[in-house]
Amino acid sequence: NMSNLSEKELIHKFKGISFSTRSSPELLNSLDSFDAREDDVLLVSYPKSGTHWLAGVITKLYNTPVTLTTPIELGDMSKLEELNQLSSKRIIPTHLDYNMLPQHFKNKKCKMIYISRNPKDTAVSMYHYYRENPNLPTVDTWTAFLDLFLEGDVVCGSWFDHFLSWEEHKNDKNILFLFYEDMKKNLSKIVKEISIFLGISISDEDIQDICKKSSFSEMKKDTEKENSDPSHTVCALTSNRNLIFRKGTVGDWKNHFTPKQNLRFDEVFSEKMKLSKMAKHLTYEF
Ligand code: A3P
Repeated sequence: NMSNLSEKELIHKFKGISFSTRSSPELLNSLDSFDAREDDVLLVSYPKSGTHWLAGVITKLYNTPVTLTTPIELGDMSKLEELNQLSSKRIIPTHLDYNMLPQHFKNKKCKMIYISRNPKDTAVSMYHYYRENPNLPTVDTWTAFLDLFLEGDVVCGSWFDHFLSWEEHKNDKNILFLFYEDMKKNLSKIVKEISIFLGISISDEDIQDICKKSSFSEMKKDTEKENSDPSHTVCALTSNRNLIFRKGTVGDWKNHFTPKQNLRFDEVFSEKMKLSKMAKHLTYEF
């Protein structure tokens, strides 16, 4: 980690959850004064679950003007005004758990897409992100990071709590739940599902085209080209897209977890997720 900033300067807690100082306490405190519009689409995830991938797909789906905004929770009080001023349809990313989501989005029943990924790969991805991202505190070892992850002592809080807070709303008609692994397995099927959910009609040919342009290698290549334009991350924890496209695979956890760590993870998982139906859909390997 290149940063010389101390953990205190990088992280603060809000309602018991760690946030990067890129999210000001004032903004977090004012989330409920956000004005939602009926046609807003929220793109929701715990960090490192495939948010950029999903955002890439969604922005390519529309044939009308849309603006992919920066995350709701990124910035200071000027954020409210900034989003208010956008005249086109807004696609708004966020890592907030359901409870912290601005009330107006719930009242207006805005469409929301929640993407999740098996938490072992999420943890591994987040570990590398902590190491590369100067906006996050230093972690010395994978072992130390895994402890923090299992305790929920990482940015955006506990993966388990985040997932559970959204799962409570799994029957809400305005929320679509997606899994990273399903996108890896059959992207065109998921693109079709998203288009139906968003009410966009699209040809099979266009779907194929979107899939091609949204592959890991294409997105990574585009990002390297756009290098100088940092305005387009959908993660509140960085504006540097080059930190996002690391490996893009399913099962990298196997290269990190020791058998003992895996056992411990499984124990925590089954305890935390014992009432979760959706957790049973998580895939650890193909
Ligand atoms: P890895 O670190 O395992 O490679 P987020 O966008 O939520 O920050 O998630 C980042 C993760 O999604 C990274 O995982 C990244 O490589 C992966 N990712 C990004 N674009 C992808 C794509 N087009 N296909 C597959 N994985 C992708």
